[in-house]
Amino acid sequence: MAQEDVFKKLVAHCKEYGFVFQSSEIYDGLGAVYDYGQNGVELKNNIKKYWWDSMVLLHDNVVGLDSAIFMHPTVWKASGHVDAFNDPLIDNKDSKKRYRADVLIEDLMAKYDAKVDKEVEKAAKRFGESFDEAMFRETNPRVQENLAKKEEIHQRFVKALNDNDLVELRQIIVDYEVVCPISGTKNWTDVRQFNLMFATEMGSTSEGAHKVFLRPETAQGIFVNFLNVQKTGRMKIPFGIAQIGKAFRNEIVARQFIFRMREFEQMEMQFFVAPGEELQWFEKWKETRMKWHKSLGLGDHKYRFHDHDKLAHYANAATDIEYEMPFGFKEVEGIHSRTDFDLSQHQQFSGKKISYFDPERNESYVPYVVETSIGVDRMFLSILAGSYCEEEVPGKDGKTESRVVLKLPPVLAPVKLAVLPLVKKDGLPELARSIVDDLKFHFNCQYDEKDSIGKRYRRQDAVGTPFCVTIDHQSAEDQTVTIRHRDTMAQERVKIADLKHLIMEKVSMTELFKKMQ
Ligand code: GAP
Repeated sequence: MAQEDVFKKLVAHCKEYGFVFQSSEIYDGLGAVYDYGQNGVELKNNIKKYWWDSMVLLHDNVVGLDSAIFMHPTVWKASGHVDAFNDPLIDNKDSKKRYRADVLIEDLMAKYDAKVDKEVEKAAKRFGESFDEAMFRETNPRVQENLAKKEEIHQRFVKALNDNDLVELRQIIVDYEVVCPISGTKNWTDVRQFNLMFATEMGSTSEGAHKVFLRPETAQGIFVNFLNVQKTGRMKIPFGIAQIGKAFRNEIVARQFIFRMREFEQMEMQFFVAPGEELQWFEKWKETRMKWHKSLGLGDHKYRFHDHDKLAHYANAATDIEYEMPFGFKEVEGIHSRTDFDLSQHQQFSGKKISYFDPERNESYVPYVVETSIGVDRMFLSILAGSYCEEEVPGKDGKTESRVVLKLPPVLAPVKLAVLPLVKKDGLPELARSIVDDLKFHFNCQYDEKDSIGKRYRRQDAVGTPFCVTIDHQSAEDQTVTIRHRDTMAQERVKIADLKHLIMEKVSMTELFKKMQ
């Protein structure tokens, strides 16, 4: 199945099974704003807990914070967002559609990558087992030609970004004959900068309302609280402050479902270090964060680092962790070495001294910062994309049937256990409910007595429940149940008394964290 179709199915699945709904759907929706349904909110909360505990519980030098969405307007002047938090936009004059010029060029480069992959795929089929992919990539003239084209664009693109050269960005689009996907024409406007922050007014006009912004990142709440946390927590450098919260960006090109939203959630951690030690911490956090992603078991090959083509003026190193979405490798998390830029700017704009006295160095300095910043919604999308499977499985009378299953990492699954009485009589529902009542304090359980067992299994597969237990007449007699494993569909008879231990072993974050350490 084409990846585009997989993605469409995934989006439809999210709605059908209560994961993600379009915001204000009964009013035809609001662009790039989404709501999380009954299963979505559980998955999202589990992702946040997995992140929070891995930061705050596992590191004794990382503490949490929950700062307000509204901040003093000068914060955004100091941070550079008022002047420079822009996207380069371009319009197609025929379709009147607006695009991000940098995204058009990135998509163009991805097309050359796709051409190369196609050549490799064709050759792999032709040569079979004797195929040497590395050699083919190095020597095939068509592969080389496409790679050279891509590199040529890449060089121009990086230079244009670094020089802030909007004319050149447009010229790349013109030279490589990029067409508007809607009108199919190359009739482009100039490229312009557009600020992404949402503004609103605080206070009534009679008392002189002033303009405030909805925060475009949670990080600034951490920077302006640096001294509060450091002093009240008696924190010694190096230490980190972690925060989860909403952020808002007036994204112009809002597409790909929850990948690019106007209201979204971030999980950010700012790690404060001594000047000169930031690059070593940058490497350490790169490694820690990649391990965190890979521990979920979706496949190591699905992740890669992508170093930034253009470093922000305040950064001395930056990389993204990308995940292979159905629409290609895309950024899920950014890791940035932000130098002392943010704290120095806030020191300058607020007029308050922001520094740290280092007893080991016997000197005061403005700490340097290494940031890890991940979008909850993008993480959610990567988890769903990596878990969604359509399979042919053995059905009734020796026939096969298809099932849709979310092979979610058990620790993140919204429901861990479904308890299903075989029939709605003979005391089986009561026994099933007593099992739920006993286990619900340890993990999320669901009771379901509607429809045939087969249909109930399919419903649980579709929301990614890792375990189902069936209560039958034997259960009442010998206190055993049949447990069914989601991915293998294997079934086994186990004692009711053993259920808690058996399931906890697979769904507990503690167990996963122990393996990670
Ligand atoms: N404080 C640094 C910062 O905000 P960023 O690369 O702009 O850096 C960090 O954003 C992460 O936030 C991204 O890697 C992505 O996961 C998420 N993110 C950014 N914009 C988003 C959007 N419009 N919709 C969903 N997630 C977004």
